[in-house]
Amino acid sequence: MVINLSKEHSLVSNWVAELRDVTIQTDRMRFRRNLERIGEVAAFEISRRLPYVEKEIQTPLGTAVCEVLEEQPVLTTILRAGLALHNGLLSYFDKADNAFVSAYRKHKPDGSFEIMLEYLSCPEIDNRVLIISDPMLATGASLVKTIQYLKEEGKPKAIHIVTAIACTVGIEYLRREVPEAIVWCGAIDDELTGKGYIVPGLGDAGDLAFGTKVQS
Ligand code: URA
Repeated sequence: MVINLSKEHSLVSNWVAELRDVTIQTDRMRFRRNLERIGEVAAFEISRRLPYVEKEIQTPLGTAVCEVLEEQPVLTTILRAGLALHNGLLSYFDKADNAFVSAYRKHKPDGSFEIMLEYLSCPEIDNRVLIISDPMLATGASLVKTIQYLKEEGKPKAIHIVTAIACTVGIEYLRREVPEAIVWCGAIDDELTGKGYIVPGLGDAGDLAFGTKVQS
């Protein structure tokens, strides 16, 4: 299932427009903040689908029965581009456990690339809700590989993916490989370059958020 958060003329479409804008996106702090804001809205929307329990809360004047989140999700991100989205999710799910994965594209002479995963820091994920953030769902290869990697650690009971821009090719690949995942995105683009960049997209999200890297 794919949920486009800007579908109903929400502020998300404004933030996506700023992320894409070749002039505005040069302001790194604003670029990161716009990703964070999408993460915050996604956190709120996802929170509406999570289970709650009633809890008696002592106030200065009496007792209130409040609904509180039954359990904390596990927020997972793919270093480094996912950090700002992750931060937005974490500012709402402020007690969540966190997992980090490092993934990068190793380019081959023919222009194709392989996804390399090298680092995993992960809490218990068995039977827990996993929320994975990656600003660009392009081919879907790094997300699928990350999920396969995480599933070796345990079987999550639900998987949510939060992304700023999703490409139709990547969405289809995810649907095939991880049919149970729910994708929350800020926009959907149809085109992908031979090098796996989304068109019109926004460029390299990691570089725009944190500076140009020298490795390919
Ligand atoms: N990663 C990016 O940063 N941008 C894209 O367009 C695709 C993957």
